[in-house]
Amino acid sequence: MPEADVDKEAKQFFADVPQRTPGFSLKGCGALGWGMQNRMARVFNPETGRTVMLAVDHGYFQGPTTGLERMDLTIVPLIPECDALFCTRGVLRALVPAASRKPVVLRASGGPSILKELSNEELAMDIEDALRLNAAGIGVQVFIGGEFETRSVHNMTRLVDQGNRHGMPVMAVTAVGREMVRDARYFRLACRICAELGAHYVKTYYVAEGFETVTASCPVPIVMAGGKKIAEIDALTMAYNAVREGAAGVDMGRNIFQSDAPAAMLKAVSEVVHRAMKPRDALALYEELKRKG
Ligand code: 5RP
Repeated sequence: MPEADVDKEAKQFFADVPQRTPGFSLKGCGALGWGMQNRMARVFNPETGRTVMLAVDHGYFQGPTTGLERMDLTIVPLIPECDALFCTRGVLRALVPAASRKPVVLRASGGPSILKELSNEELAMDIEDALRLNAAGIGVQVFIGGEFETRSVHNMTRLVDQGNRHGMPVMAVTAVGREMVRDARYFRLACRICAELGAHYVKTYYVAEGFETVTASCPVPIVMAGGKKIAEIDALTMAYNAVREGAAGVDMGRNIFQSDAPAAMLKAVSEVVHRAMKPRDALALYEELKRKG
């Protein structure tokens, strides 16, 4: 029988208190469904609106990359320090403890190795497997200007359609061919195409000139890609500038796991991204943590 549990007088309806309607402040994500927003909130810290993703998916096209030869030994211990892990489903199943509560974004495209034309990718994972693995998102490479540009864009749009059906956010990764000019004009084009065609967030490279125009003209969050290993102070400065110029965080790989002290570097990047720590101070923190081992 309805409401037979306690005396009606003892119930609390707070009839004079209007129900709250919680908003969702992540850029361009206000109209997403609850499941999609919840997954985004697992990757982007709701307190800062930012994320430090640890990218360790490199093996999907370049095999045992330096620093990733034994991911059970080098990467698994780092997982607690990041906001989300970007990896392949193979590594997740084989090496990441299922008891880990860290959100995972899964690499969903692949095909060619470094020996072939990299833009010739296909979708390499079914959305069902991402759901089975409790992923917080999926990532796909988009090669604007590349030989197989249209195919890679089509991979992304198919994945976005699947993601929208299941509440799974899609991160588009703007991949740049060796012969292409890495400037703000190119990244504005690439990021905007990804967002217009439905990507829920975009991973792209930092450029010193005009990065704020890349983030401003992209209607969804941008996370900064790390790129090849550079000096710690330069990587920290790049992350600092990227978030100051509108990025919602970073998805960094080699500049963390190829550092002399990866855990220290991850902590320093986190301070920069979430607490706007100045690069010099973050470097001092890195050095101190490295010293302490
Ligand atoms: C290539 C990728 C990578 O596989 C990886 O995530 C790159 O990380 P980083 O450049 O920081 O080492 O997305 O475009």
